[in-house]
Amino acid sequence: MPEHNIFEIERLRRETENYAARLGRTPTAYVVTFGCQMNARDSEKLWGILLDAGFSEGTDEKADLVVINTCTVRENANERLYGHLGHLNSMKREHPLKLITLCGCMMQEKDEVERIRRTYSFVDVVFGVHNLYRFPALLAERLAGGKHVFEVWDKPEAIVEDLPVKREVPYKSGVNISYGCDNFCSYCIVPYVRGRERSRRPEEILCEVERLAGDGVIEIMLLGQNVNSYGKGLEEKITFAELLEKVCQIPGIERVRFMTSHPKDLSPDLIRVIGANEKVCRHLHLPLQSGSSRILKKMNRHYTKEEYLDLAKRIKEGVPGISLTTDIIVGFPGETEEDFEETLDVVRQVRFDSAFTFIYSPRTGTPAATMEQVPADVIRERFARLLDLVQKIGAEESGRDVGKILPALVEGTDPQVPGRVTGRLSNNVMVHFPGDESLIGRIVNVHLKEVHGFYYIGERV
Ligand code: 5AD
Ligand code: SF4
Repeated sequence: MPEHNIFEIERLRRETENYAARLGRTPTAYVVTFGCQMNARDSEKLWGILLDAGFSEGTDEKADLVVINTCTVRENANERLYGHLGHLNSMKREHPLKLITLCGCMMQEKDEVERIRRTYSFVDVVFGVHNLYRFPALLAERLAGGKHVFEVWDKPEAIVEDLPVKREVPYKSGVNISYGCDNFCSYCIVPYVRGRERSRRPEEILCEVERLAGDGVIEIMLLGQNVNSYGKGLEEKITFAELLEKVCQIPGIERVRFMTSHPKDLSPDLIRVIGANEKVCRHLHLPLQSGSSRILKKMNRHYTKEEYLDLAKRIKEGVPGISLTTDIIVGFPGETEEDFEETLDVVRQVRFDSAFTFIYSPRTGTPAATMEQVPADVIRERFARLLDLVQKIGAEESGRDVGKILPALVEGTDPQVPGRVTGRLSNNVMVHFPGDESLIGRIVNVHLKEVHGFYYIGERV
């Protein structure tokens, strides 16, 4: 750990003790996470810092310190934050020593931070995605009597490794392999808030995975905005397919997943590595966004409908049994009925196991925000049609493996049925079967007896 960081965590520990003295008890903390897997991983670091500094684990927003790790990918994510802030403000009136910290993607937007400074002046600490490791120092400053401690950087100064981390579960973990995005899809704000794409060095990634394996982790999720372009800009020549192979070779690691794949960079080599390596999970999330080549061009996605269909076909042939899931945006500017029909056509041809469907949300500063928008009622009608189709196909596909015996990683007991546990198959589908909590964190073979909606009922064999 870099020395200044140890020092600042120690400083935060001292300030946390003073805070505890003011409260008359150990302060509790709670982290709320919006958005994607990247944010979920960052939140594990925030939790790690807070527990290390002497906070105890709160269970909800009544905690003494509430940290909100924000998302700004769509406008409704921003609205949700302001909803939470209204609520937190009234809580803070009852509990004046309560502390509120905001961080994450939305804090990289100057206008939003200004709005918070002006209208939500009860917010104590604000930082962004590039200076997460400054959290101990900033919170310590606030606890030492600082007023509003706001610090947001436009770009990263360094990739700081080895922050303390509290994993959500002991047996699986995300591992960042790259930060930022260089693709500039015309609807997307991520490249503006998360900055240019930077790959972590392979030795650092492999070291982290080894450490996690030594700590009992058996499933790794490799995380990047576009994992398929991993390696760009590094001194050593390495591709994502090569990195994936190396991660699979680390003793103790049983399963490897990754997120997210951009279709334009998904190499034949990667398909070969997944196909040849049972440890790589049989699930690929491959955002389509639109099935119309005309719209894809306006989105700056760098593939056509035909190229996507061909890629999906090659993946299914190369990795039998794989689940394909996707993201689709409805109502991108200029989308006509014909364009939308093309999207439905791809959904019918690829037969996705599931799809996240989004209504296009204009993001200030992105090229698409100034293009001519599709009327809201047209979007709503298309969205409903797409959702219907996606759900119908998902339900038909989800029973594919009934009758088979497949390994499942047990993730918890079934809250609905006592004596039953819930496991995740390699293809990301869930199975419920008789068992107790001693199985949690283990991979066991399960006979998939029946399918109920989107999950299986099975029996351990
Ligand atoms: N409007 C709607 N959906 C969006 N996404 C990204 N930006 C927008 C936007 N402006 C969706 C994309 C992406 C997912 C994470 O969010 O489908 O894959
Ligand atoms: Fe956004 Fe496109 Fe980058 Fe994904 S690849 S984060 S959609 S710009």
